Amino acid sequence: MDTKQGLEGVVAATTRLSSVDGEAGVLLIAGFPVEDLAPLATFEETTWLLWNGALPGAADLAAFRSRLAARRALPAATLDLLRAAAQRRVPVMDALRMASGTLSLTDSAGDTGQDAVILVAAFPAIVAAYWRMLEGKEPLAPREDLGHTASFLYLLTGEEPAAERVRGLETYLNTVIDHGFNASTFTARVIISTRSDLVSAVTGAVGALKGPLHGGAPGPALDMVFEIGTADRAEPVLREKLARGERLMGFGHRIYRVRDPRADVLAEAAARFYKNAGDSALYDLARSVEATALRLLREHKPDRPLDTNVEFYTALLLHGLGLPTDLFTPLFAVGRVSGWIAHCLEQLANGRLIRPQSEYVGERDRRWVPVEERR
Ligand code: ACO
Repeated sequence: MDTKQGLEGVVAATTRLSSVDGEAGVLLIAGFPVEDLAPLATFEETTWLLWNGALPGAADLAAFRSRLAARRALPAATLDLLRAAAQRRVPVMDALRMASGTLSLTDSAGDTGQDAVILVAAFPAIVAAYWRMLEGKEPLAPREDLGHTASFLYLLTGEEPAAERVRGLETYLNTVIDHGFNASTFTARVIISTRSDLVSAVTGAVGALKGPLHGGAPGPALDMVFEIGTADRAEPVLREKLARGERLMGFGHRIYRVRDPRADVLAEAAARFYKNAGDSALYDLARSVEATALRLLREHKPDRPLDTNVEFYTALLLHGLGLPTDLFTPLFAVGRVSGWIAHCLEQLANGRLIRPQSEYVGERDRRWVPVEERR
């Protein structure tokens, strides 16, 4: 039996949503190079593009914005659950996963089209409300006059955000909206392939995204930069990590053999942001850490090209936007939820039940032994 550990290289479906060329380092989102789309589009436009296959016209966009804005209020039971989670200081991704499941409590739940809008609208509202609860503050009532991304920043801080902060975060959310058959998207597609429902598929995907080999890396990547502190310490600190067998967070990828194109989009957004904020010291340090890490990884694994992935500059950009490290992975989910849903819609339209096989390597020909005779 030809076994592909981790399903590496296996093509399990066709998709019109995104194309990941790992050799050339090119990512297309519904036909657009990510570097062209992400810095210009609103998140509502990118979501519409993935769900409908084309950019929305002005009337469709306005109607879609209103539909999302009208769904930002969370069910009372969701808020109660978040309060209980905050009392126990449950990590944000676990609170998001639990709250995601409660979205089945909304009136129209179970209808795929409605669930799609509710999930995208509610994710940022859940993250913002929960963060405020962790800080001992009350969640804020949503405002319908703000766009999706500005609304998140408002719900988090209570202040109407400056346009450049909204642009920085919107670029991030667009950059991570979809990325082929990554682990969380695959999870969502497996769940929906059984003809389950969208809330179940998205909730499972949140669980898959949480792990450090997928969406959980940007926090540790930033910690690593802070731990290094000054450029001259990069080499000794990184060498020590590699000697201890640790992985350098923010480097390496299952598909990319060259630099992850999303790293460039985010590096550019971060550079602009740090320059405007008049504080380029951290940005300069990160670039120097990156250059040293790449040199040492080439030495460490000469046969395995290991380059910068999306998480390294995610950390830098989101930190520059004043967002706490604990929200980095939840914000990945806030962006990726639209992609998960787009994949679910595609799977429902033309997919087969996803059911691979395993190769049995356990024992055979065992004989039953009564419990009193077992040793
Ligand atoms: N630092 C040091 N060594 C590494 C790194 C790294 N960042 N990445 C891979 N390697 C080594 C592995 O230890 C392995 O060595 P071995 O053969 O001696 O065991 C070899 O390179 C091959 O690695 P694999 O595990 O086969 O690569 P895989 O495709 O399974 O993993 C992954 C990709 C999980 C992203 C890996 O590179 C990694 O752990 N990186 C650090 C965590 C990270 O940045 N995660 C975010 C990924 S991006 C995203 O999901 C959005």
